[in-house]
Amino acid sequence: MGKNEAGFSVWAVLYIRLSQQQGKVMESLLIKPGAMDFSVIPEVPADTFVAPLVRPGHLGEDWLEPEQRVYTSEEHSIWDDLFAQQMDVLPGRAASSFLAGLDRLDLGRGGVPDFGTLSEELQAITGWSVVPVPMLIPDHVFFYHLANRRFPAGNFIRSREEFHYISEPDVFHDVFGHVPMLTDPVYADYMQGYGRAGWKALAYNRLKALSALYWYTVEFGLIREADGIKAYGAGILSGPLEARFSVEAQSPNRIHLEVDRVIRTDYVISDMQPTYFVIDSFEELFRKTVERNFDDLYRGLTPGFTYSNQAVLGGDKVYHLGTQEYANRGGKGSGARPV
Ligand SMILES: [Fe+2]
Repeated sequence: MGKNEAGFSVWAVLYIRLSQQQGKVMESLLIKPGAMDFSVIPEVPADTFVAPLVRPGHLGEDWLEPEQRVYTSEEHSIWDDLFAQQMDVLPGRAASSFLAGLDRLDLGRGGVPDFGTLSEELQAITGWSVVPVPMLIPDHVFFYHLANRRFPAGNFIRSREEFHYISEPDVFHDVFGHVPMLTDPVYADYMQGYGRAGWKALAYNRLKALSALYWYTVEFGLIREADGIKAYGAGILSGPLEARFSVEAQSPNRIHLEVDRVIRTDYVISDMQPTYFVIDSFEELFRKTVERNFDDLYRGLTPGFTYSNQAVLGGDKVYHLGTQEYANRGGKGSGARPV
């Protein structure tokens, strides 16, 4: 792909990225829109930073496990206890599409769900499936699966010792947190669109910007509903603390989502967010992202983030101006209480 020169010049866009630091031409990049073949794993350009993940020897380049693992009865009961804990917290705080999806897929039927059954049910609703992976997988492989309506889910489940917090996404985070939203047809299309957007982010070396969009929507997104602001992000919905904090606490900002702003905003990885971004509907999210010209967006973007994760800007539509007390007291590490 991109190596065949025939007809190439008609489509090619020559993009010269200027180094922000040195003010000289650092690289040039030929981007051929028609060259994005979503049926194969995208190539990672040599200058793109990727996390140093080591693929287990028994897996192919798609990182998929041949089959879902068999869980012990203790592991199934950890799922049940996590499920019960979340159901004490989520009604009234989770987005209605999430709760409807949870119900439709019957994720509380007992024990870790079988991916085969789940995929059959999801296929019938939005054409998605759930596939097992052993651990976090590289961005470009993740994009490839999303672009083909496959959601890679961690095969393992946390132990009792890690009941309240786990640094790597396990099957509870991935299946309970993410999969119910895939029953919403517009959200399901957004997720596929996000995967496809990965090809362009790789070509422009702007993975960081695209990750911020994922973080502030898929993981920590909020949505306005008739009876208030609710959570649809899996990072929020798969844990009890942030489900309350994100929609009710005084500390964090709640700001309407604008893509140009969000992709320039830093985020917190292992604690609750100082700022959440709110959408009116998944149609709005789709319109503002998948239907947006990201070529233009990336051309005007610096490599690093512009705004801190606590910033409130002049142009922001603010629903709640946070006190930032939790973050300013040092967050989780300091023992600060979420307020
Ligand atoms: Fe996640």
